[in-house]
Amino acid sequence: MSTKNVSDWLLSQNRYQRAEKCVDKKIEGKAKTISITAGKGGVGKTSVAIKVAKSLADAGYKTLLIDCDFNLANTAVKLGLPINDDFASLIMGTKSFEEVLHRDGQFHLLSGCNGNLDLFENRLEYDKIILDILVGHEDEYDFILLDSPAGIQKDTLTINAYSDYRFVVVTPDKSSITDSYSLMKILNTKYGVKTNHLLVNKVSNLAQYQKIVKTLSETVDHFLKGRVNVLGSIEYENKAVDKFDQILLGSANSSIHKNFIKVVNRFTEENISTLFSDEKFEVPFATTHFGKQEVQPTIC
Ligand SMILES: Nc1ncnc2c1ncn2[C@@H]1O[C@H](COP(=O)(O)OP(=O)(O)O)[C@@H](O)[C@H]1O
Ligand SMILES: [Mg+2]
Repeated sequence: MSTKNVSDWLLSQNRYQRAEKCVDKKIEGKAKTISITAGKGGVGKTSVAIKVAKSLADAGYKTLLIDCDFNLANTAVKLGLPINDDFASLIMGTKSFEEVLHRDGQFHLLSGCNGNLDLFENRLEYDKIILDILVGHEDEYDFILLDSPAGIQKDTLTINAYSDYRFVVVTPDKSSITDSYSLMKILNTKYGVKTNHLLVNKVSNLAQYQKIVKTLSETVDHFLKGRVNVLGSIEYENKAVDKFDQILLGSANSSIHKNFIKVVNRFTEENISTLFSDEKFEVPFATTHFGKQEVQPTIC
């Protein structure tokens, strides 16, 4: 979404009072925001959000990860940190941002809650809350990553649309491909978002990866007149399910770690120098006709 479109859209919503400051952010080159999103649950959004945030921090970028799964937060759990009600305290105003932040060098985490009753009972406008946090702290970071919850509720779409970049996480599962296309379609038609980045997770072989990239990029191009910028793939780690987080955050010699380093290097090398242009990635396949059939034709 271009700067102008974002500002027009925010202003048209007439709900976010500091919209002009959001626009300033793009002009001044403040923190770049990346939503890790998918529509579908279980595809690896949280794993990707944590690993990309940590990799950016290891590369020297000051990085904030915000767990936007406000009441079913998983980032702290995966990182082995104690879970708490700090996010609720922050939005109730009883604790400050500085007090609730978990810091580990250049990596900072704003965790969510887990089954907090106040959050459950009070329907809050989480999109506004997150936009306020972004506007309030964008000066302090190079990157702010937003780990999206499953689903395509309005709060999530608003946050995704506002972000400078969206990493759409897809797995080889057909329903994941369908859901990610549906997400991109709604972002495109309702919010004017034309460009997304694609990260294929749980990949078993190259042919599988290539087929997903081809299907999604051609369908988005043909039906949405949009663009999918390919970030690469993360292989399926076929170990016991309870070992994955250990591997994800463990040795730098693991294939998973190397996959992520490639993804992050590709993103930073090809985007940071041209910060406000999303047009740099090439789909690594010749464009051929691959059945011009919409992945999710029933949703219009
Ligand atoms: N590349 C992978 N290989 C094997 N298991 C994975 C991989 N990526 C994620 N997982 C596992 O898939 C499950 C869902 O991951 P998670 O990051 O919580 O997804 P989401 O946030 O989309 O719900 C977890 O059990 C996680 O360990
Ligand atoms: Mg998650």
